[in-house]
Amino acid sequence: TSARAQDAGRFAFSPVGVATDSTVHVPEGYTWDILVKWGDKLVSDAHDFSHEAGVPISSADKVFGENTDGMELFAVGDKQVIAVNSEYVNPKINLPHTEDGTPQTADDVRMLQNFQGVTVMEVEEGENGWRVVVDSPFNRRITHNTEMAISGPAAGHDLLKTEADPTGTRSLGTFNNCGAGKTPWGTYLTCEENFNGYFGSTDPAIELPEDFKRYGIAAESRYSYEKFDDRFDISKNINEPRRAGYIVEIDPSDPASTPVKRSALGRFKHENAACALAPNGQVIVYMGDDERGEFLYKFVSSGTYTPGASTDGLLDNGTLYVAKFADDGTGEWMALTPETTGMSLEEISIFTRMAASKVEATTMDRPEWVAVNPVAVEAYCALTNNKNRGVKPNAGGDDTAVNGPNPREKNNYGQIVRWYPENDDHADTKFKWDLYVMAGNPDVHSGTPYAGSDNVHAGNMFNSPDGMMFDTSGLLWIQTDGNYKNEGDFAGMGNNQMLVGDPVTGQIERFMTVPYGSEVTGITWSTDRRTLFVGIQHPAAPFPDGEGKLARSSVIAVKRADNALIG
Ligand code: FEO
Ligand code: CA
Ligand code: CA
Ligand code: CA
Repeated sequence: TSARAQDAGRFAFSPVGVATDSTVHVPEGYTWDILVKWGDKLVSDAHDFSHEAGVPISSADKVFGENTDGMELFAVGDKQVIAVNSEYVNPKINLPHTEDGTPQTADDVRMLQNFQGVTVMEVEEGENGWRVVVDSPFNRRITHNTEMAISGPAAGHDLLKTEADPTGTRSLGTFNNCGAGKTPWGTYLTCEENFNGYFGSTDPAIELPEDFKRYGIAAESRYSYEKFDDRFDISKNINEPRRAGYIVEIDPSDPASTPVKRSALGRFKHENAACALAPNGQVIVYMGDDERGEFLYKFVSSGTYTPGASTDGLLDNGTLYVAKFADDGTGEWMALTPETTGMSLEEISIFTRMAASKVEATTMDRPEWVAVNPVAVEAYCALTNNKNRGVKPNAGGDDTAVNGPNPREKNNYGQIVRWYPENDDHADTKFKWDLYVMAGNPDVHSGTPYAGSDNVHAGNMFNSPDGMMFDTSGLLWIQTDGNYKNEGDFAGMGNNQMLVGDPVTGQIERFMTVPYGSEVTGITWSTDRRTLFVGIQHPAAPFPDGEGKLARSSVIAVKRADNALIG
């Protein structure tokens, strides 16, 4: 046993070193294996994935989607079902017949639309490890064209009505599904992040409404859907983007169910949705808006959750709050109401960013995942980085000056803020806060704030915390999506990684490194907690299929060699 392992405290592993190679590393005594790769079949009549041609359009919504992100595992009877996001696509890879990945036909657009969204899949552990149960009745793809219901204050509002949906209550598709969450009643929450990139204008002279600017919706789109699919053409369908940017609830136990866009949870670039329960049973959903200078939110339900009772309306009726941090370590959740914002409830749920600016919420360094500690009344948010504070003021004109939880001017490294709700009640409007960690590089920036906080040292350096999840023992798993060049400010950090933090002592140790080029995002456990599933997004070749093959985003299964619990 090494000195570091003896030092391990609550950590049941010896930390791994940094890596710069193209594979996954886990601690001694642990193993990893692939569960599923982009393009793997969910149904047996899908085409096999080909390294030359991918899969044909006819199979694009019958295979595991591209660029895996947030995920959750659900026990459905004695079955295990994973719901997992596919955040975005690489058009150049998927449309090899095009010069630069720009769609040339409606089929090209449909291809890109079908590789994204959400995959629901049954998984099972056998003698040869974990596998997807092909043809399971639970297997389902939810794409950019799947029918959705819209609920909550925005449902039926004029701003959500289109020619195809004059009711403003039925939309198609969920977009840029980033992080995720799980409700206390066992449904999946998928979070629409950079939805703006899917909409564009065939009329380049279009005059953009003010709200489009705040949300980054522009005449030029990321994927050029608008050229072949009018629904994404804002010169023809000005309200369509206002039907995106929500949190969507999906019932993984019912493949015929219609996903529901929960407008009461606000509209912004949603990262994830971390649920908590107040002592009286009110449901709290914490949510980050991942953009420089945007905000941290929470929703508090009006009604209370009782196991087994109806959950109707719990995510439709409630109050949205935004965080205001004071420099003295206290803070307050500011309610977004008609009284505090001068906006209607409908407008608050559609133009949430503007409502939050009106109450002078604290501008943040890109709020990514929130994680709620199951064994202490506290929550954490990864503030991933803010590379251009002062260089590129955000579209809303908010003051992005340094402030309490965002203390560094040029923030290359990121930090994790933690808050303790007053009265041990997540529904309380008051809290105290501190920084759990400031990432940094003590080798390069010794003696300055860029060295990081005291719990950062040469053996656990990392940058850009992003995904976060607590295990049942109250250890915080931290995933990074940062600079992996291993040079300059980032020398000694290597590839992206997953670390484990002890909230009590502050100790942080590196559990895993991921292949060069990839980020690690998405984490969930098997029902017996003897397997940890982890997502590897946008790896570079040769991961996972070898030299000369396409790189494929994958979910891996991590186990202990002695099959003991993980976390
Ligand atoms: Fe999709 Fe903010 O990460
Ligand atoms: Ca993320
Ligand atoms: Ca990120
Ligand atoms: Ca990503």
